[in-house]
Amino acid sequence: MISVWVELNDKSYPIFLHDNWNNLFQEALVYLCRKSCSLRGKKMLIITDENVYDLYHNPVKQAFSSWGIEVVTSVVPPGESSKSLQQAEKLYTAALQANLDRHSLITALGGGVIGDLAGFIASTYMRGIPFIQIPTSLLAQVDSSIGGKVAVNHPSAKNVIGSFYQPECVLMNVAALKTLTGREFSSGMAELIKHGIIRNEAFLTWLEANQAALAARENSLLAQAIHRSCEIKSEIVKRDERETGLRAVLNFGHTVGHAIEAASGYETFTHGEAVSMGMIVEAHIARLLGLISPEYLSRILKILAGADLPIVLPDLDNRLLLKWMQHDKKNVQDRVVFVLPTAPGKAEIFRDVQIDVVLEALDAARQE
Ligand SMILES: NC(=O)c1ccc[n+]([C@@H]2O[C@H](COP(=O)([O-])OP(=O)(O)OC[C@H]3O[C@@H](n4cnc5c(N)ncnc54)[C@H](O)[C@@H]3O)[C@@H](O)[C@H]2O)c1
Ligand SMILES: [Zn+2]
Repeated sequence: MISVWVELNDKSYPIFLHDNWNNLFQEALVYLCRKSCSLRGKKMLIITDENVYDLYHNPVKQAFSSWGIEVVTSVVPPGESSKSLQQAEKLYTAALQANLDRHSLITALGGGVIGDLAGFIASTYMRGIPFIQIPTSLLAQVDSSIGGKVAVNHPSAKNVIGSFYQPECVLMNVAALKTLTGREFSSGMAELIKHGIIRNEAFLTWLEANQAALAARENSLLAQAIHRSCEIKSEIVKRDERETGLRAVLNFGHTVGHAIEAASGYETFTHGEAVSMGMIVEAHIARLLGLISPEYLSRILKILAGADLPIVLPDLDNRLLLKWMQHDKKNVQDRVVFVLPTAPGKAEIFRDVQIDVVLEALDAARQE
């Protein structure tokens, strides 16, 4: 149906986007055969979680098996706790037991947790083996499967053990999003809306105009939204693969969002919900600094609320939130770094925001 080429010199790869498995795998087969001659006889470890296994493992395994690949599957419990070194060790054992070698493949079938975990295994097993992403959550399709960040968590910090590792290709089936819960769907919408806010006002306006049909998960409209979003993220990654500058704009909403996740113990909110509230607080900071108008702040609030995302900050202690913001791994020395909107479709990095302004924005974001 549609594809996006992620341009990264010798690590470039395609994202194939369809509304059914058959077409998706047909297109992927043509591409992979052209790239690596023969897939017949190769071994593959599919890594998935229990929910996605029940829903989508069969068609995916059948497609790879029909290409002559020897497929084994490891199923992990759903949820963030699977992004651990303990889980990684179990997966290395599974890869060794299945005799995966340097020419074998690892496939991530699932949401962002599975993409990050399976990508981390692929990047380290035998110093790195080829990797295919099949993201099945909206968040994974618009965000985590693009750009090559792979990681597991340490008990005291998220995503601190990882690397940059690009897949061979990314296969997205928009029809698979039908089975996501409303909360998980909204969570992905937060990152999609973020892409409009930071980079493309026309996309933001389009999202506003099509909000109801998107919420109804109409395939062709969803595919258009995901396609635009993938283009925006991959254009940013192409210009700054290792986040030495521009790529940091993708962190809009995340300085505060990560602090909300950490301060509430990671169980209360999904990542997208925390990022939604984080975007609100950071948009308040931008308004207090005179970077954006009150009208644009209202526009941001309205589009997030329209996607069923939380827009009022929960009752978390300001000092605790500040402590976590100061821990953020994006910080350089002791200053808190914020990405702030400066106009519709534009965001910039600010390194010296006064703590008083942050506190005022946190309080403003608690008012309905
Ligand atoms: N690598 C990156 O650049 C990057 C970017 C953003 C987020 N992330 C990471 O992504 C993770 C969050 O990803 P997520 O929100 O996809 O979480 P997730 O992988 O936990 O998936 C959310 C839930 O949806 C279920 N699910 C997935 N696809 C489904 C489907 N089609 N139908 C029904 N249920 C389905 C999963 O089993 C899980 O219960 C976090 O660990 C975060 O750190 C990484
Ligand atoms: Zn995010």
